[in-house]
Amino acid sequence: MDTERTRALGSRLLTMVTGHVMTMLVNVGHTTGLFEAALRGPATSAGLAQRAGLDERYVREWLGAMVTGEILDFDAATGLFTLPPEHAPLLTGATAANIGPTTGMLRMLAGLLPEVERCFTAGGGVPYAAYAAVAGEGLGATWRHIYDEQLIDGFLGRVPGLHDTLQAGARVLDLGCGTGHAINLMAQAFPASEFVGLDIATEAIALGEAERAAMALPNARFVVGDAAELAADPPFDVITTFDAVHDQRSPAAVLERVRGALAPDGVFVMVDAKFSSRLENNIGNPHAPLCYGISLLFCLPTSLADGEGAGLGAMWGQELACEMLAAAGFDDVQVIDSPRAQNCTYICRAAELGASAGSGRQQGGPPDV
Ligand SMILES: C[S@@+](CC[C@H](N)C(=O)[O-])C[C@H]1O[C@@H](n2cnc3c(N)ncnc32)[C@H](O)[C@@H]1O
Repeated sequence: MDTERTRALGSRLLTMVTGHVMTMLVNVGHTTGLFEAALRGPATSAGLAQRAGLDERYVREWLGAMVTGEILDFDAATGLFTLPPEHAPLLTGATAANIGPTTGMLRMLAGLLPEVERCFTAGGGVPYAAYAAVAGEGLGATWRHIYDEQLIDGFLGRVPGLHDTLQAGARVLDLGCGTGHAINLMAQAFPASEFVGLDIATEAIALGEAERAAMALPNARFVVGDAAELAADPPFDVITTFDAVHDQRSPAAVLERVRGALAPDGVFVMVDAKFSSRLENNIGNPHAPLCYGISLLFCLPTSLADGEGAGLGAMWGQELACEMLAAAGFDDVQVIDSPRAQNCTYICRAAELGASAGSGRQQGGPPDV
């Protein structure tokens, strides 16, 4: 019995539970506007409460946690609380660096814990409909800023020749487009190309379409449909997915459909989690515990919702992803880094495109893309 190991775990557990509470309180700061209020300059607890229109006693207790948690500074002589300029970009503003929307997503996921716990004993999963808020206000809000800052130059710009293809005019599909911000940004950046966003979630597609209308984009449209029924005709020059393959019910079928729906010289650009399929290779990766956790609370149960899904989970890893891409007929797969440490981009081509995988034409109701 190594007592030092026990002590070390005790210390890590204290850090963990403190982190949990701090995550909740950071979310409170985000939703109540306290961080934005603190951004306006040093203030007493009463001053901050007044700025944010909140009850001083609650604000003061929150400030206690923020100061001892080393998020805000406190000057005992003046009673002033300060949001350090070095911390402000991580807690305020409509940018991808602001952790606020992520804390909101974790809060929503916590509400679904009873559903996920039920799956531990009963098996099965949780329907995507239960995750509408997580996907929209949580994930959608987080990815919205990532797309704003990194989609065009960061993600797409790293794929050799893709900007030229999109500038020249291409037919593009974003599969599992969620709330559609990526489609709308691409349509705005590449007016000569035609963009289709496909997702099975009706509410998400409605939000994408509302944004498209507000941005007055004539070259984008949105379709509700099942990616596993994607038809081969008419084909696409470019198909993209952003974190939308691993949580599919039938990812193997979807990858085959994608290959079948690509035009000659077409390319499939799949952005997904950048991890190994082997647990032992992910030990020490600082992003791994969080991604396994989100996978368990979100990606896995949605894939398994009807009890028949593949249940790959977000941590399916590069080895399995490459295997499945090869099985779907992509014989030329290049994996490159993305602008985010947690994601990589698979650039997938196939010598033989369309045809055999295009069985969508024989199915009853393929999405009208
Ligand atoms: C993790 S979200 C990613 C959303 C979006 N790409 C983004 O970055 O915000 C996965 C998306 O896949 C969609 N999806 C899941 N199964 C689907 C299916 N069978 N056909 C089409 N879309 C599906 C979900 O509704 C969800 O919007």
